[in-house]
Amino acid sequence: MNKKMQAFMPLIAFVVVGVAVTNNPNQERNLKVLPQDITDQKLDSIMHSYNVALGVNCEFCHSKKLMYPGGLDFPSDSNPMKENARQMMRMTIQINKTEFNFDVNKKPEYINVVSCRTCHRGQPMPEEFH
Ligand code: HEC
Ligand code: HEC
Repeated sequence: MNKKMQAFMPLIAFVVVGVAVTNNPNQERNLKVLPQDITDQKLDSIMHSYNVALGVNCEFCHSKKLMYPGGLDFPSDSNPMKENARQMMRMTIQINKTEFNFDVNKKPEYINVVSCRTCHRGQPMPEEFH
C-alpha cells in the first residue's frame, strides 16, 4: 500500500461507518413488543390491521411531529394511547401463545387466531352487551 492510500484509510473507515449508521433501519423504531428484526412490510401490515380492527387512523396512537405537524412521529411514545395499545398487544400475544401456539417455530407475535378485531370489531372501545 502506498503512502497516499494510507493517508486516506481513516477517512474511508469514517465514511463506511457513517453510511452504516445512517442506513440502520432500527433508528426509526422504538419496539418494545414486536420483534426487533420485523420487516418494514410486516410492521406496516400489522399497523394497518390496527386501523381496521379499531376503526381509527394512525394518529389515534401516534403523535404529530413537533416541527412538522403534517406528519406523524412514529417512534415517539408521547401519545399515551400507544402504551395502552402495547398492553393490548402483550395480552393478545399471550392469549395466542398459551392457547393457540400450534406451531412452536412461529413467532407468537405473528399468530393471530385471536386478533384485535376478534374483540374490537371496528370500534376503539369494544361495546358492552346490555
Ligand atoms: C392502536 C394503536 C396504533 C395504531 C392505530 C397504529 N399504531 Fe403504529 N405502533 C403502535 C405501537 C404500540 C407501536 C410500538 C410497537 C412496539 O413497541 O413493539 C407502533 C409502532 C409503529 C412504527 C415503528 C416505530 C416504533 O414506535 O417502533 C411505525 C413506523 C408505525 N407504528 C406506523 C404506523 C402507521 C403508518 C399507522 C397507520 C397505518 C399506525 N402505526 C397505526 C400502535 C399503533
Ligand atoms: C380479548 C379481547 C381484546 C383483544 C384481543 C384486544 N382488545 Fe383492545 N380492548 C379490549 C377491551 C374490553 C377494551 C376496553 C378496556 C377498558 O374499558 O378499559 C379495549 C381497549 C383498547 C384500547 C383503548 C384503551 C384505553 O385505555 O382507552 C386500545 C388502544 C386497544 N384496546 C387496542 C388493542 C389492540 C391494538 C389490540 C390487538 C393487538 C387489542 N386491543 C386487542 C379488548 C380487547
